[in-house]
Amino acid sequence: MRVVVTGAAGFIGSHVSGALSAAGHEVLAVDAPERSLAPEVARRTWAELAAMPGVTAAEADLAVDDLDALAAADVVVHLAGRPGVRDSWHARRAVARDNVRATARLLAACRRRPATMRPKVVVASSSSVYGSAGRRPNWEDDPPNPASPYAASKVEVERLAVAAARDGLRTVLLRYFSVYGPRQRPDMAFHRFAEAALNGRPLPVFGDGLRSRSFTHVRDVVAATLAAAAEDLPPGIAVNVGHHEAVTVRDAIAMLTAALGVRAEIRRETPVAGDAERTWADTARARRLLGWTATTGLAEGLADQIAWHRAVREGVRVG
Ligand SMILES: NC(=O)c1ccc[n+]([C@@H]2O[C@H](COP(=O)([O-])OP(=O)(O)OC[C@H]3O[C@@H](n4cnc5c(N)ncnc54)[C@H](O)[C@@H]3O)[C@@H](O)[C@H]2O)c1
Repeated sequence: MRVVVTGAAGFIGSHVSGALSAAGHEVLAVDAPERSLAPEVARRTWAELAAMPGVTAAEADLAVDDLDALAAADVVVHLAGRPGVRDSWHARRAVARDNVRATARLLAACRRRPATMRPKVVVASSSSVYGSAGRRPNWEDDPPNPASPYAASKVEVERLAVAAARDGLRTVLLRYFSVYGPRQRPDMAFHRFAEAALNGRPLPVFGDGLRSRSFTHVRDVVAATLAAAAEDLPPGIAVNVGHHEAVTVRDAIAMLTAALGVRAEIRRETPVAGDAERTWADTARARRLLGWTATTGLAEGLADQIAWHRAVREGVRVG
């Protein structure tokens, strides 16, 4: 299969590209590393990607460059974008550019292909489209309730993908829930906690630590994404990709510090506006359509991420 992965120099994109390469697919890895929240990290990952068998790395800014060549694929896995609720409050233009505009241009390029040669397009959405979960997990037909510019941009991304599906493009929306694991983005909670603890500093926690998340290991996210690329799905459908259990940040910190073998101090920071009290994935649709359920428990997954932080610090790994 010829697969285009956008955002390939990013956290999830690099894992998806690696898995596709390992499975023997031909991968065109696309990114504009300077658009990343952490350009230096993206540049390092980019260099690693280019060395993987079957992977061709091509720099392209989806918001401005010609994208016709990217549409010549069996599947496009569209992970490029500007992630993060916190960042989005002071980067609204970048969020609109790299999430909404980039997606609109990519979908338009795919639609321009002759009908029988159009790729399937797997699009990254987010649990943030739901706002906060209540007393039950969110399922895909719950109405959107975005509470930040980032979440609103993902609602718009979904609208574009559904419109493209009505026009004959096979799109699928994957609503990822708090992804963690090796190479997690430096702005994300576990990355910040692990680095703080390893530096002997207090862990910077937004709010009281009682918020809960369907934390999902990137290995599971990759499995769901590859299944979505392979399965024949109703066009325009959204699927939750999240662990079925929601865990509080406080409990996650207890597991993380136990795995690190430290007693960490907490430094409380002002809660981030628009950050959901709780995210919680209903996974019935993912089980039914993708045959997928998350299998990595949080303690095991955190140990895996910590091993990566240690390896990077010891120079065993570059990124
Ligand atoms: N990590 C999570 O927990 C999570 C949760 C929900 C949704 N998502 C979504 O999944 C996707 C991947 O997330 P991630 O955590 O790997 O983020 P990431 O920032 O690590 O990766 C995104 C990549 O997109 C690239 N990019 C940005 N704008 C671009 C443009 N205009 N043209 C080309 N490349 C561009 C960046 O350089 C970066 O390498 C994003 O769409 C994100 O919103 C992530």
